[in-house]
Amino acid sequence: MGEYILKVEDLWKNFGGLMAVSGYNLELPRGAIYGLIGPNGAGKTTVFNLISGVLKPSRGRIVFKGRDITHLRPDEITALGLTRTFQNLRLFPSLSVEENLKVAAHVHARCGFFPTLFCAPSFFREEKAIERKACEMLERFGMYEFRKEIAANLPYGLQRKLDIARALMTGPELVLLDEPSAGMNTKEADDLARLVAELQRDFHLTMIIVEHRMSFVMGLAEVIQVLDYGSIIAVGTPEEIRQNPKVIEAYLGTGDLVA
Ligand SMILES: Nc1ncnc2c1ncn2[C@@H]1O[C@H](COP(=O)(O)OP(=O)(O)OP(=O)(O)O)[C@@H](O)[C@H]1O
Ligand SMILES: [Mg+2]
Repeated sequence: MGEYILKVEDLWKNFGGLMAVSGYNLELPRGAIYGLIGPNGAGKTTVFNLISGVLKPSRGRIVFKGRDITHLRPDEITALGLTRTFQNLRLFPSLSVEENLKVAAHVHARCGFFPTLFCAPSFFREEKAIERKACEMLERFGMYEFRKEIAANLPYGLQRKLDIARALMTGPELVLLDEPSAGMNTKEADDLARLVAELQRDFHLTMIIVEHRMSFVMGLAEVIQVLDYGSIIAVGTPEEIRQNPKVIEAYLGTGDLVA
C-alpha cells in the first residue's frame, strides 16, 4: 500500500474467442501520470473498462488504495475515488452543461434518501455546495459562459472537456482519460494538455491517459505502456518508447499514429 495508488496483477479479458487483454500488469505510483498507447483494437479501452468496473476480468486482481476492487460495481469504485472518461462521450445530451456536472457530483453527495425526499435543510446546503463546485469547475475549464447551454449543442472539443470536468466532480484521486484530445485540432489539444497538467497538480491527481496523439501523451506522461493485441510489448519513458523498434513495428502501416 502507500506508494502505489493502483496495482493491477495479471489481468485477462476474453470476449468469446477473442483475447482482448492478456496478462496486463501495472504498479502506478501516487501522483504520477502514465500513458497507455497502442494501435486500434489493442485493448486500451478494455483495460479502462476493467479497472473502472464496467467489465469484469476473466482473471486477475485490481487493488486501489490497498483495497481489492476487482469485484466492486462501477459506482462503488467511483465513490472510492477512481473515475474515468469515455472514448465515446457519455454526457446527458439534453441537460445543460451545469446540470451535467451537478448530476455527476451526486455520486459523491452524502445526503441520504430521506433528507432528499423531505427537502431537509441538509439537502439544500448540499445542493448549494454542489452548485458552487460546478461553477468553479467551469471557470477552471474556461467554460463558465456555456453553463446554460444544452450539452449536445456544444462544439465537440468542448463536449470532451465537459466530460473531463464531469469526471472531476466526483472528487477523484485517480482519473483514467480515454483519448481526451480525440477530434480536437492542434491548438485545442495543446490547450487541453496544459489544463490537464494544471488539474493534476492542483487536485493532486494520479492519471492514466490513453491517446493516439503522441505529442499529447508524450508531453504529459512520465512512463508509457504500449499494448498490442492485448499484451504489453513495451514500458518506458516517452523517449525510450519513441525509439523502441517493437513499438515502431506495431504502429507501422496502421495509420493509427497522430503526430
Ligand atoms: N464488449 C465487447 N465485446 C466483444 N468484443 C469487444 C468488446 N469490447 C472490445 N472488444 C474487442 O476487443 C478488442 C480491444 O478493443 P478495445 O476497445 O479495448 O481497443 P482499443 O485499444 O481501445 O482501440 P481504439 O484505439 O480503437 O479505441 C477489439 O478487438 C474489440 O473489437
Ligand atoms: Mg479505445
